[in-house]
Amino acid sequence: MKRIAVLTSGGDAPGMNAAIRAVVRKAISEGIEVYGINHGYAGMVAGDIFPLTAGSVSDLVGRGGTFLYSARFPEFAQLEGQLAGIEQLKKHGIEGVVVIGGDGSYHGAMRLTEHGFPAVGLPGTIDNDIVGTDYTIGFDTAVSTVVDAIDKIRDTSSSHHRTFIVEVMGRNAGDIALWSAIAAGADDVCIPEREFKFENVVNNIKKGYEKGKNHHIIVLAEGVMSGQEFAMKLKAAGDDSDLRVAVLGHIQRGGSPTVRDRVIASRMGARAVELLRDGIGGVAVGIQKEVLVESPILGKAEDNALFSLGADGEIIVNNPHKADLELYLLNRDMNNLNLY
Ligand code: F6P
Repeated sequence: MKRIAVLTSGGDAPGMNAAIRAVVRKAISEGIEVYGINHGYAGMVAGDIFPLTAGSVSDLVGRGGTFLYSARFPEFAQLEGQLAGIEQLKKHGIEGVVVIGGDGSYHGAMRLTEHGFPAVGLPGTIDNDIVGTDYTIGFDTAVSTVVDAIDKIRDTSSSHHRTFIVEVMGRNAGDIALWSAIAAGADDVCIPEREFKFENVVNNIKKGYEKGKNHHIIVLAEGVMSGQEFAMKLKAAGDDSDLRVAVLGHIQRGGSPTVRDRVIASRMGARAVELLRDGIGGVAVGIQKEVLVESPILGKAEDNALFSLGADGEIIVNNPHKADLELYLLNRDMNNLNLY
């Protein structure tokens, strides 16, 4: 392959720049030319495609966001959009594409591969909800941001003996909530993967204050419901504490990537180039047990769920590579974190 392109698509994530940088530098070292595509698939269709050099990616490894910009572009799900994109790739002599993004972006990469343009996916999303990888690029940074915010919320929460619901992102996945609740020593965590009863949360809040605690932190994954709705339902279920809601929002998507995100992004970016160099497309690069792996780009979503409950209430680990359940169990014993 003589010329490849790289794009970022969907919600941005810290570490995307580090991944782009690795793609560019590795490609150049392999004698492959590399082009950037601005604004994801929208830019591909619009022909917003330009050559990148080693210098184009200087000083980017630690910068948040994505210097190639990102966009959600549902039109690429239609054949018409795909053909328009392919026309532009042909026009620019591009033979393969690295797509950095989440699940929706992977669908576009699969379509390109089917049309004869091998595309390799890199998991770029804070949600950690991509099949075939233990960690996505951006997850570690997002969790660090959330933990930093909860630490601050706890200060004011303690001063006023308040209960806080901290709503965090993650779409339908509870990973950000679970990891940050553990790392910040929260009192309760509600994630979409587990059912819960408001009465239990109310009781835990009461018990905590009775024991002399001066605050109560509930981490709520947005996939369960909004913080406001949760607060209303908690009150309706009998909570009489001084309750506040903090929605962390898009600060979770910004900031300089952590060391872990920079390193996995760099390793994955380099691997994507090796795959395209060998003519391989239709795969996604992931990391499992700290080892880089490839898997079919469109796996089954349920394979990536943290865990589910069996018929007799037993916990079934759906993805043995995910450490979440083990972490939760450890934390339950150590910190009395309540997972519903
Ligand atoms: O997928 C990343 C993510 O930040 C989700 O956690 C969140 O639900 C969504 O994107 C927000 O999307 P937008 O930036 O389009 O509002």
